[in-house]
Amino acid sequence: MSTRRSVAFIGSECYPFVKTGGLGDVMYALPKALTKQNCDVKVILPRYKCIPWKYQEKMVYRGEFHMDLCADGRTYYVGIMEYVWDGVVYDFIDNEEFFGFGNPYTNLVDDIPKFCFFGKAALAALNYLNWIPDIIHCHDWQAGLVPVYLRTLFADTPIGNARTILTIHNLRFQGVYNIPTIQYWSGLPGYVFNKDALMQNWLDANMLKGGLTYCDLITTVSNTYAGEIQTPFYGEGLDAHLRYHSGKLRGIVNGIDVDLWNSATDARLAEPYDISSVLTGKKENKRALQEQLGLVQDDHMFVIGLISRLTDQKSLDLVNAILPQLIDGHTQVVVLGTGDERYESAFRYYEGAYKGYVCSNIMYDEGRAHMIYAGSDALLVPSLFEPCGLTQLIAMRYGTVPIVRETGGLKDTVQPYNQYTNWGYGFTFDRYESGLLLDAVNRAKTLYFTNRWCWDEMVQRDMDVDVSWEKSAEQYRSLYMELKP
Ligand code: ADP
Ligand code: GLC
Repeated sequence: MSTRRSVAFIGSECYPFVKTGGLGDVMYALPKALTKQNCDVKVILPRYKCIPWKYQEKMVYRGEFHMDLCADGRTYYVGIMEYVWDGVVYDFIDNEEFFGFGNPYTNLVDDIPKFCFFGKAALAALNYLNWIPDIIHCHDWQAGLVPVYLRTLFADTPIGNARTILTIHNLRFQGVYNIPTIQYWSGLPGYVFNKDALMQNWLDANMLKGGLTYCDLITTVSNTYAGEIQTPFYGEGLDAHLRYHSGKLRGIVNGIDVDLWNSATDARLAEPYDISSVLTGKKENKRALQEQLGLVQDDHMFVIGLISRLTDQKSLDLVNAILPQLIDGHTQVVVLGTGDERYESAFRYYEGAYKGYVCSNIMYDEGRAHMIYAGSDALLVPSLFEPCGLTQLIAMRYGTVPIVRETGGLKDTVQPYNQYTNWGYGFTFDRYESGLLLDAVNRAKTLYFTNRWCWDEMVQRDMDVDVSWEKSAEQYRSLYMELKP
């Protein structure tokens, strides 16, 4: 294979150390896929207190130094703890003051200084380790200042020649605060706080916006989202900025780790299954799910799963609006998620109101997620916006038919079922309306209850879709090559 590339990934979460959503999955699976494509990958993460002890105890101390950060000239401790796994090197930035609290994200008042420190410390650590990559691949606003630091305070240091990619996983979060605070904590020169870089609305500083200006390439996690974010509806206030930089903006759809998500070897399932045994395998897993969750036990139920952060991004208002209409004695709904109080309470209420038919698991639980992917017939992902979405990909891999809104990566990955050609991977609807969501679920139910043969074919077709990282990792690799001839 062609030339080797070295890449440093910088981001705020990574499975299995710490994960709150899809970013954590990508930070784990993409580096792993890239190592198979002749890339050397180092992943730089904060060493949060919440990282399970079984990983912490295996980390190896690689060194420490002191770094200045904010305008008052105080210096901060930066420790580097290393963990090597599956060909990928993970370097954790250690600092009790910033990462000792536990959870990765708390509130902006704490998170802004935390990720100013993290961005600068990540680059300083690479210099300290004398590991100078060809490419620095930054993820979301938490790593937004990295390209800015690189082209300013680090320009004349060994790392200064590296090229940068900034991947947007979710444009909703940007790291915005008033200019004096971000200027103080970042220690960045005043000139970067201009309207084309960090400044926003003349008063605020936006860490992601600065990164978008200073990076060499911007990517986002699907083609459709790459187009959507250039419009006011999806642009979260940055649409004009993204249109201006559209020449360096690309969309590359996410994959999933097909070793981690493999129904044939998944030890968490009541009965593992592959494409040839999926019909009996799913029946066993449905039984186990109904039993464990206290649902009415009946093989003929149409079981709908929903695995999601409970926030307005995921259109839970639409789900809540139609839930009573879904429950007809032949349908069960299993929810797994945590998030906004109002959604948590709504789902708790429905569980009480429809005992045996609705089960709301208000928790974060990897094991239960695997069981629900395997035991459900369909998975609901009606998102208001969805940069890529991984749950529909995992669902397909487990032979669970996705029901999605046609937005972002959902549109790019779920080809709608066409009853005339008997082809497609799932059921879709376009406008953000509860009636259309209900219609999509009803179309799915109609096929399930009246034409099981075609439904079962779709289940097998879904399992056959290539949702692995291979093709997308190749596209990232081509970008790395493009940047550094
Ligand atoms: P997002 O990143 O917007 O949350 P994605 O679909 O990209 O959405 O990724 C969500 C990831 O988090 C998937 O791996 C999904 O299985 C997982 N997940 C979400 N909620 C839970 C939960 N309550 N318990 C376990 N896993 C969850
Ligand atoms: C974000 C998005 C999700 C995407 C994930 C990984 O959290 O909300 O759509 O799949 O990042 O890129």
